Amino acid sequence: MSGIKGKVVVITGASSGIGEATALLLAERGAKVVLGARGLGRLVALADRITDVGGKVAFAGTDVRRRDDVAALVKLASERFGKVDVLVNNAGIGPISPLDELQVEDWEDMIDINIKGVLYGIAAALPVFRSQGFGHFVNTASTAAFRVVPNMAVYAGTKMAVRAISEGLRLEADGKLRVTIISPGFTRTNFADSMTDPGVKAQIVASMESMAIPPDAIARAIAFAIEQPADVDVGEIVVRPTAQA
Ligand SMILES: NC(=O)c1ccc[n+]([C@@H]2O[C@H](COP(=O)([O-])OP(=O)(O)OC[C@H]3O[C@@H](n4cnc5c(N)ncnc54)[C@H](OP(=O)(O)O)[C@@H]3O)[C@@H](O)[C@H]2O)c1
Repeated sequence: MSGIKGKVVVITGASSGIGEATALLLAERGAKVVLGARGLGRLVALADRITDVGGKVAFAGTDVRRRDDVAALVKLASERFGKVDVLVNNAGIGPISPLDELQVEDWEDMIDINIKGVLYGIAAALPVFRSQGFGHFVNTASTAAFRVVPNMAVYAGTKMAVRAISEGLRLEADGKLRVTIISPGFTRTNFADSMTDPGVKAQIVASMESMAIPPDAIARAIAFAIEQPADVDVGEIVVRPTAQA
């Protein structure tokens, strides 16, 4: 099956930014979208926007730190729409800081959400994809997965892990499942809200204000990967502002 129309797409971190833009774009193009995030109010508002224009949508409060929540989200998609074509493992945070500050709780949160959240997504969807005989993982990494800069050691580590796990998954899929890694550069979202270090946050916000691209630019890359024919796996896409070094 190629194209987007009729595909059932589960998206984590769908309540804002890249996840929200992806949900809107895919729903507009005929996908049935299943949205997960912790912010239920924002999910309700987004689901209303999608249904108001004739889209098909389901949603559930989902904390990707909880394996059961992620499993329930994937189950909701199967039960409501009868199959799962794509899981977009998009939820992520970036409370970056110098290692010397020992913000160990932030390190743990990044590991729990950015790495373990993706693994819980794989654990939830892989058996479904195997029994269906088809399925597509789209995992969100970052340009930080290619280039480490000061303050981003742990964040970059989590995103490198996403790339490594995704490539391992692709190889183990025996040519039966598709795996795509999407690596955004500076994108205008609520991402800086997750930053706890005021100085680092101010620097990132300034960079975002000067050059960030809209989240729809990343959504279009995700749509491109999804719409390819079943025998075409778009392995990896990096989408960054033209002005980003
Ligand atoms: N913006 C950038 O410049 C940039 C660059 C490279 C990579 N990325 C990556 O892009 C992805 C999306 O981020 P964004 O830029 O769109 O930022 P965003 O606007 O802050 O969106 C992050 C999403 O993740 C959700 N989320 C956070 N913690 C969660 C949890 N424990 N369980 C479930 N959902 C959770 C948030 O919803 P709730 O708070 O409601 O749960 C929100 O929907 C992330 O993986 C991020 O690392 C972003």
